[in-house]
Amino acid sequence: MKLAVVGGGSTYTPELIDGFARLRDVLPIDELVLIDPAADRLELVGGLARRIFARQGHPGTVTTTADLDAGVDGADAVLLQLRVGGQAARDRDETWPLECGCVGQETTGAGGLAKALRTVPVVLDIAERVRRSNPHAWIIDFTNPVGIVTRALLTAGHKAVGLCNVAIGFQRKFAKLLEVSPAEVHLDHVGLNHLTWELGVRLGGPDGTDVLPKLLSEHGDAVADDLHMPRTLVDRLGVVPSYYLRYYYAHDEVVRAQRQKPTRAAEVAALEKQLLEMYADPALDTKPELLARRGGAYYSEAAVDLAASLLREGGSTHQAVNTLNNGTLPFLPDDAVIETQARIDRDGAHPLPVPALDPQFTGLIAHVTAYEDLALGAALHGGRDRVFKALLAHPLIGQIEYAEQLTDQLLAHNKEHLAWA
Ligand code: G6P
Ligand code: MN
Repeated sequence: MKLAVVGGGSTYTPELIDGFARLRDVLPIDELVLIDPAADRLELVGGLARRIFARQGHPGTVTTTADLDAGVDGADAVLLQLRVGGQAARDRDETWPLECGCVGQETTGAGGLAKALRTVPVVLDIAERVRRSNPHAWIIDFTNPVGIVTRALLTAGHKAVGLCNVAIGFQRKFAKLLEVSPAEVHLDHVGLNHLTWELGVRLGGPDGTDVLPKLLSEHGDAVADDLHMPRTLVDRLGVVPSYYLRYYYAHDEVVRAQRQKPTRAAEVAALEKQLLEMYADPALDTKPELLARRGGAYYSEAAVDLAASLLREGGSTHQAVNTLNNGTLPFLPDDAVIETQARIDRDGAHPLPVPALDPQFTGLIAHVTAYEDLALGAALHGGRDRVFKALLAHPLIGQIEYAEQLTDQLLAHNKEHLAWA
């Protein structure tokens, strides 16, 4: 089995390699190719990846290349984890929206739109080249904003599934609190990428007993603290929102806090510098503890499970992924991309049925889906007007004054990445 990772020079990659090495019985990789245009990072990350494989006795090879076509050639699956413009572009996404009193975030609000505009054309070009080389290859998209990027891929007819670690993070956390193994915990996870709620926590599988009420009565404080949301909110909703919902439920509070501190991009850039110094040490042959300070926990386990189910005969599992709605949420168009529990097999993701949702959730989901539709249109076709309309339609923006200002800022800060601007 051959796997290629686009953005393989990311400082996240050792997380992925660690999972590949530990879980080699689930996902037997013969050949892993790390692809990245940044030669210096790629060399450091590639070296550590080889040492992790060697230490764990993994028989597969790890190679590195800047040549995308050569790297994806013959790959059974291609993982996308790239960041157009790097942390510098992210830093800007997290900064200029604050001037209008809007959240500065890499996937939510105006910053998320900027990222989508930069990223969608690049990802579609890569996917096209993957398809030319191997029309059967699966694309696993971890590249943000995952919902919009996955919708772009699926609309263009690619074999793609979008992946995020929010669901697996909750699964691991709840398993610990409930003192059961993670495999026993099935989440009723639903919404859009970075806009999800855990409606139920079932033991044993999709038909298991829902222990969410018990989880909240026994560990409600721990759950709420972790989200930086009031316990009373979680109790009143009766479900667990993802921490990305904080950008909605506590928008102004977040903006006030963001104005007082360095951006997450700046924090991450400092961490990355340290990590790369560590990766350069030839004695290092494990994923360093410091990597836990990035947000990608359990990404490798989720990626291994997903790739194994997509590629292996009889490897079907349930997993929260981003895929076409196709009637799962009847209030959304079929071609919207939702994040939901699905059965995964060699034909792709098949969403499990979702019970009728409360308006508390349907309203926001529908609103953000409409924004994502407009955002994708702007990413595909460009134009100031499309950017403006997407911003105006976003539930966190919605006013002409802000949408105008944010459009100007977005375009001014992203000229080098937008061919049409
Ligand atoms: C979580 C999200 C990812 C996001 C990451 C950011 O893992 O699910 O989509 O990329 O956090 O982490 P960072 O360390 O870059 O802030
Ligand atoms: Mn994510």
